[in-house]
Amino acid sequence: MTRERINSAYEYLRRVTEQRPSLCVVLGSGLGGYADTLEDAQIIDYRDIPGFPQSTVPGHAGRLVLGKKHGVSLACMQGRFHCYEGYSPAETVIPLRALIRLGIKRLLITNAAGGINESFRPGDIMIITDHINFASLNPLEGANLDEFGPRFPDMSFAYDKELAAALKEAASRHGIDVKTGVYAMMKGPSFETPAEVCALRVLGADAVGMSSVPEIIAAAHAGVKSAALSCITNMAAGILNQPLTHEEVMETGRIAAGRIRTLIDGFIERVGE
Ligand code: HPA
Repeated sequence: MTRERINSAYEYLRRVTEQRPSLCVVLGSGLGGYADTLEDAQIIDYRDIPGFPQSTVPGHAGRLVLGKKHGVSLACMQGRFHCYEGYSPAETVIPLRALIRLGIKRLLITNAAGGINESFRPGDIMIITDHINFASLNPLEGANLDEFGPRFPDMSFAYDKELAAALKEAASRHGIDVKTGVYAMMKGPSFETPAEVCALRVLGADAVGMSSVPEIIAAAHAGVKSAALSCITNMAAGILNQPLTHEEVMETGRIAAGRIRTLIDGFIERVGE
């Protein structure tokens, strides 16, 4: 089922575009604007791609933008699919796997996350060095798709050190402060309880969010190298004596969006085609 959906999405993309992107950029909540800066942009609505799930979250536009930046062929995903919307983990990575079939070799992920590390502040940017999959959701569950990778893929190098170094260089070149840390994925859609956040801290997480881990796993499975950035849009539940809202997440995301755009751009310039 998943294989057929990936294939029909891939066949469609191969037919409607001559572009063969080498790098996929997943633009998280409020960060979709980066795709507007692409040259020779070709915009494809997710609705028009057979096999693709459809996005339901406000702030997630649901478009694939193909184009070039610094001579690099890009596929920018404006909007992603979350398990809390009701999709299976395997469904959430259909777009990425269709793009892997189209030839992408590298992945840059952005997301919004709550800060657990108390030295973080809302608006900070964190390069993800590793993750903890507390959602226990895995896109590779079920029959293995051998054409992508092995049954038991290694996750030791899921976050590529060279790509992370390119992000750090871009940050330092543009005077942008970046943190590094471990991202914990929770399924959501409710935010965490303060007790869960305490537990996550003890277990080694610096930030918590509801996305990205399935994509990172699917990329690692297929030998696609990944880098990932979290925008710390809020401090996680219980750290500050105040309630958490989706509006706060979106608003802080907007404030940090300019810096994240600069980082994405500097990253692409550094890694090249
Ligand atoms: N928890 C989970 N996901 C999030 C958060 C959070 O605090 N902020 C943004 N995404």
